[in-house]
Parts: sequence; structure tokens; C-alpha cells
Amino acid sequence: MSTLPQERRVVTAIPGPKSQELQSRRTASVAAGVGSVMPVFAARADGGIVEDVDGNRFIDFGSGIAVTTVGASAEAVVRRASAQLADFTHTCFMVTPYEGYVEVAEQLAELTPGDHAKKSALFNSGAEAVENAVKIARAYTKRTAVVVFDHGYHGRTNLTMALTSKNMPYKQGFGPFAPEVYRVPVAYGYRWPTGAENAGAEASAQAIDQINKQIGAENVAAIIIEPVLGEGGFIEPAKGFLPAIRQFASDNGIVFVADEIQSGFCRTGQWFACEDEGIVPDLITTAKGIAGGLPLSAVTGRAEIMDAAHSGGLGGTYGGNPVACAGALGAIETMRELDLNAKAKRIEEVMKPRLTAMQEKFDIIGDVRGRGAMIAIELVKSGTKEPNPKATAQIAKACHAEGVLVLTTGTYSNVVRFLPPLVIGEELLTDGLDVLEAAFAAL
Ligand SMILES: Cc1ncc(COP(=O)(O)O)c(C=O)c1O
Repeated sequence: MSTLPQERRVVTAIPGPKSQELQSRRTASVAAGVGSVMPVFAARADGGIVEDVDGNRFIDFGSGIAVTTVGASAEAVVRRASAQLADFTHTCFMVTPYEGYVEVAEQLAELTPGDHAKKSALFNSGAEAVENAVKIARAYTKRTAVVVFDHGYHGRTNLTMALTSKNMPYKQGFGPFAPEVYRVPVAYGYRWPTGAENAGAEASAQAIDQINKQIGAENVAAIIIEPVLGEGGFIEPAKGFLPAIRQFASDNGIVFVADEIQSGFCRTGQWFACEDEGIVPDLITTAKGIAGGLPLSAVTGRAEIMDAAHSGGLGGTYGGNPVACAGALGAIETMRELDLNAKAKRIEEVMKPRLTAMQEKFDIIGDVRGRGAMIAIELVKSGTKEPNPKATAQIAKACHAEGVLVLTTGTYSNVVRFLPPLVIGEELLTDGLDVLEAAFAAL
């Protein structure tokens, strides 16, 4: 039910005059450290379209970084959040609780992998969820070390900066970072020295060896991994890697945390990406797609682990805000009703063959990967695997100028990623891909 015409339209230079005017006010009043992908200011967004203040309509291949899975003004989200706004905006769950929070926790218990008893705690941002997963794992295991992976991204707070792999722009100049964080290899198939087919077994063996030798498994509270690494470049760990690490965690009493903040809630064609290899995490962190654009995040997991933190040890003034909870219930209702897992798979069916065909034509496309509506291309210099961040930026800019909102990502800033809302129409997908192909042809 889109109120915004679902078609691309470029009526000014990008950015247009109104955006430029806002940009100068922004430059004067907003801290320079907060960047933006495109210098256009949004006026409305719905379905697969973002309209700017100059009337340009962009095909949305970003979903506000994997958030507006159900669209940016989904009917059920607007209906439920509006009703909640009229009832009350806030009481603080830690002062007087309300049903919406409990209902979200019930939904999370039902939707996340595994049929064990589960509990949840709600927060505001992804980073906050990850921080709390670490607190809970430490309280449960009475251990301190946390293991994360090369190319991992977990946020911008002090602890999550430490957990995050890439220095610039996330960490540069912001240290010292939290201690007791250890980084080990991940099975990045495309760049694994002995080939993708060996990556799962070799990377898991190396990671486990490093944990045993450098940290001591008995000191590890949590292993945290994104089942599809988002900011690291949409890396799907090679088959076998996740099950091996999951097994190692089980064997050593380590809490296995799946960070599904970017990959969760139908994005990869499953409710959660770790389902793909039958992984049942002990804890799972969610945010982004959970609430149709309203700020909400969660830690969900085994009841006995979740209950390890003492009363009052978890929470926050706004955590599980009632309007955000209502939005989440609306988003989940939409995902179920429209079967957005099927839509994500259909998006993959449309995008992957087109991108693979482009890879055959343009040799700077080194790899096409991802699943569902979490798809990416990795750009390299012709005939090599050397990252090509320059071409990546040029392609993104050319798409923006033609009214297609694409995002880049990756440790080497050489990945163009596609995260369309799952409610996007197929004509928009095809039109966006045509624009992308033309951008490669023109490069
Ligand atoms: C996997 C993952 N974890 C954590 C975060 C941090 O979430 P937030 O930006 O809401 O703090 C992100 C954000 O991109 C993410 O992709």
C-alpha cells in the first residue's frame, strides 16, 4: 500500500537546490563526524522509493542500511505506532512496564532459532544490544574474554569499537578501546589464500587454534559473529565455518552470539541468516529491520543465560520504548502477512543472474555474493584481486546521479551492496539494475 508513486524520477541535478540549501545549514550546525552517503535530504519514503526535497525519486537499494525491510512507512507500522503514540509515549519499562514490550519478547522467542526456553531484553540501538550480549555472557560464564572476527562490525560505542575490525572511519583517534577483546580469522572465501573451497575448514581451524593458544578457551565468555558479515563486505563465511565455531563454543562452555543486526528479520530469505546452516545461537542480537524504522534492538537467548544478570543490571531509560515496540509488532505482522522471506528469495532470483551477467562483461567485478536481499559485488582492478575502492565510489556516484540509492561497504571500501526494502516492486529492481549496468559501461 504505497502512497508514493513507485518510479524513479530525476528532475534536478543531484543534489538539487533545496538539498544544497539544507546542506549548507547542516554544515553549519551538524558535527562533521556524522557523514551521509548522499547529500540529498529526504522528504518522503515508501515502498522502494525515497523522495527528496527537490522532488527527485530514488530507487532505494539501501533501506536506510537494512532497516526499512517492510518499507519506510508500512501501513501496520504506522497504524500500530500511531495508536501507541496516542495512548502514551513513554513510562520507562523499568518504572511501569507495558504489554508491547512483553509481546515483542514473545515474538522474538517464537521467531529466533531453537525451541529451548528463551527470554529477551530490549534496547535502542544495535551497538547497545551487542554491549548487553557481552554483559550477559560475562555474567553467565564468569569469564571476561570476547572473541570476534576479521572484517566484523558491531558498532561505534567504546566496547563495540573494540569489537569492530576496521580502523577508518570507525576507530581512528577514538581509543583507548575496551580490553579483553580478541580477533581471529574468518572464512572469507573470495580472498582465502588456498581458495574458497578450503576456507571453511582452514579458517575455523586457525581461529580455534588461536583461541586455544592465545586466550585459552576457558577464559572466553563469548564468541560473537555476524552470520553474514555486513560492514566487512557482505562476506558469507564459507560453508562449514559457522558450524565448526558453534561446536567449539558448545564444547567449551562459551556463549555463541549471532549478531543478526544487519542480516536478521527476513533479509536473507530466512527469519535469521544463521538458519541457513542450522546454527542455533545461545544469544542473538537484533535491531535494524526489527521495527520498521523505529529505534529498537534486542538480545534474545537461552533463558538461563539471559537470567544470569541480576535485577537492575540490564536496561536503560528508553530501552524497549512503547512506540518502537508497537512499530516492531507492526513490522513483524507485515513480514508474516506478505511472506517477506519469499520476497527476499525472489529479489535474489532477480538480482543475482543480472549481476553475474555483468561480472562476465565487466572484469572489475571480482565477486558476486550474498543471499536474499543482502547482495553485493566486490570490485577489483582488472585481471587482479586488488581492491578497487576508486571504481566503487565512482559507480555509487553514477548511480546516485541517475536516481538509484546504492551503498558501498567492505574492509577495503570496494563493495557495492544492495539492501532493497523487501516490498520493492520488480520493475524498480530491474530499472535500478539497468542504471547500475549503464554505470559500469560508462566507467
Ligand atoms: C552487524 C551489526 N552489528 C551492530 C551494528 C550497530 O548497530 P547500530 O548502528 O544500531 O548501533 C550494526 C550496524 O550497522 C551491524 O551491522
